[in-house]
Parts: sequence; C-alpha cells; structure tokens
Amino acid sequence: MSKKLTFLILSGPTKEYIDPVRFISNESSGKMGNALAQAALKKGGDVIFISGPVSVFPTGVKLIKITTALEMFKEAKLNFRKADITISTAAVVDYSPVKTYKRKIKKNNPKLLIELKQNPDIIGYCGKNKKNQVVAGFALETENLINNAKLKLESKKLNLIIANGKESFNSDNTTVYIIDAGSVLKIADKSKKIIAENIIDETIRIFENIKSGKNIP
Ligand code: C5P
Repeated sequence: MSKKLTFLILSGPTKEYIDPVRFISNESSGKMGNALAQAALKKGGDVIFISGPVSVFPTGVKLIKITTALEMFKEAKLNFRKADITISTAAVVDYSPVKTYKRKIKKNNPKLLIELKQNPDIIGYCGKNKKNQVVAGFALETENLINNAKLKLESKKLNLIIANGKESFNSDNTTVYIIDAGSVLKIADKSKKIIAENIIDETIRIFENIKSGKNIP
C-alpha cells in the first residue's frame, strides 16, 4: 500500500426497540467485520469501526458503538468522507417501529399491531455519494445468490459486493462470491480471516485503479 489508507467498516447487527425491553434484531456476530478490521490493520491502514451490539470488538481501531440503524447512519455520514475505502458487513435491520413504547407493553391486548418504517440504506448512501472512494457491501441471499447480489451492486452503486448464504451468520468458515462490475470470484469454505484478507486486497486494488485513472466509478 503506497499511501496510508483509511477504512470505514460497518459491522454487527442493529437493534430497533419496540419498548424498553423488546427489540427487532438479528444474529449477526460481527465476526466478519472484526476479520476485515484485522486485515485492514495488517495492511497498515487506519480503521474507523462502527459496530452494533456484539460481544467482541476489534482492537487498534477507532471504535464507535451504536445501537440503532439511524445511529449507524448518522455516524457513517460523519465519517464517510475521511474514508478511502468503506465496507459494510453490518446486518442493518431494514425496518424500525414508528413508535417506541416508553413502558413495557402489557399482554392484555388480544391483538397488537406494531407499525414499522423503513430504515435508510446506509451503504447505498455511501455508494451514491462516493468521490474517488471505494464502497463495498455484502449481500446475504437465500436464493439467486449471484444475480441478486449483482442487482444490489448496481442499485447501491457499489464497487464491490460479497455474496454469501445465511449459513455465514455466526460461523467461522464460509463460502463467498466476491463480485465487481466485471467478474465473480468464488472463495469456498475458507476462514473469515482468509476471506477478509482477499476482500481487503480487492478493495485496495480497486482504489489504486481509481487513483491511477484506470477505473473511474
Ligand atoms: O440488506 P441488504 O441485502 O440490502 O444488504 C446489502 C448491503 O447493504 C450490506 O452490506 C448491508 O450492510 C448494507 N445495508 C445498509 N443499510 C441498510 C441495509 C443494508 O447499509 N439499511
């Protein structure tokens, strides 16, 4: 790496509270985010790491802990311009309750309707607003893995998307497809550490191409 690069990594789940003790979330462990942070540090980069609630956080990074998707969006917008390379492996909850009850909801209603509103697409915002920056995301799909990931690559205006199946949640080894505008690279049954190193290498390659004018996104 010629210049010291700054990486912005979004990781972990978000939690959207319904009342003080109930929330909508998912099982994201943050393991891939941690592996990406380690791989970026190993390349000599600076890492700004925005993470939802998980049990393990990386060391050696500027750590920003958030809970909700809106908090992650706010921190991502504040830090995005500092980053040469932004990668989101965060499992952002797509919807949050329109109203958060101040007190624990009682179970005396036979029916309870909870209205949800869409959360902002954080990496989509970064993709659409990038300026000579690399923006990469993940796509967890249960069907048409590669095609659905390619659609997300285009709609979110990403440089790179990493497609994986739901078995990737919480596991140490996984299979991914690293997809850019022109190619699909399969990495089968490897540790998240190895996969993260491949992803970081790929983002640095794209960044260097952009800088040298070979690949204007
Ligand atoms: O959920 P989806 O399949 O759209 O996620 C694809 C990519 O977009 C992932 O990198 C995820 O971290 C990111 N994402 C986001 N904001 C959302 C939803 C997803 O940044 N609200």
